[in-house]
Amino acid sequence: MADRRTARSRGKGVALEHLPGKLKDADQAKLLDALRAVMEEAPLFTPTMPRSGKPMSVRMTNCGPLGWVTDKERGYRYQPTHPVTGKPWPAMPKPLLDLWREVAGYPADPEACLVNYYSGDAKMGLHQDKDEEDFAAPVVSVSLGDSAIFRVGGLTRKDKAQSLELKSGDVVVLGCDDRLAFHGIDRILPGTSALLPEGGRLNLTLRRVTKPV
Ligand code: SIN
Ligand code: FE2
Repeated sequence: MADRRTARSRGKGVALEHLPGKLKDADQAKLLDALRAVMEEAPLFTPTMPRSGKPMSVRMTNCGPLGWVTDKERGYRYQPTHPVTGKPWPAMPKPLLDLWREVAGYPADPEACLVNYYSGDAKMGLHQDKDEEDFAAPVVSVSLGDSAIFRVGGLTRKDKAQSLELKSGDVVVLGCDDRLAFHGIDRILPGTSALLPEGGRLNLTLRRVTKPV
């Protein structure tokens, strides 16, 4: 595909794909409308770290049958309801399902879409996405709003990492050998996008949680 830029691939299959400008301006605006409705029904909340109870700097919500949440008492997990409202998560907007079907190369739909909102000074420490049952499915991430410096390394914390600037409309696929790569967000670059009038960045991560039957 012409717009694919493979940042790195090892052995068979593409491991990490960065698709710059995958979503055009009009698609970003449409997706944002759908996400505003999601956030209306399932408001952003401040997650806390397991054990320490330290608040994360991002605020989050989810859509889809399952949502990723964390708190001091019960730690990282997926659950079908919003931890504050107790209501089921809103449905995943169709454009996100369509995107997954196009880029994931996986025979079943995603079950969770984590929505992270980064205000200007928010960041996300280096971590692995490993609360899912099935690592055969990739993680597909969509960036909207201000640009971010994304860091992605190897399978241990100490592996050398590379930095990528993720702009509004960019899509990243972490699959194959990089499905469990350590990654995080070093910082947001405020004022780099006009998409969100309030500023900041929304990141959506689509994931398959359970093994398809
Ligand atoms: C995440 O790893 O949950 C978020 C990554 C990003 O914000 O791009
Ligand atoms: Fe992650």
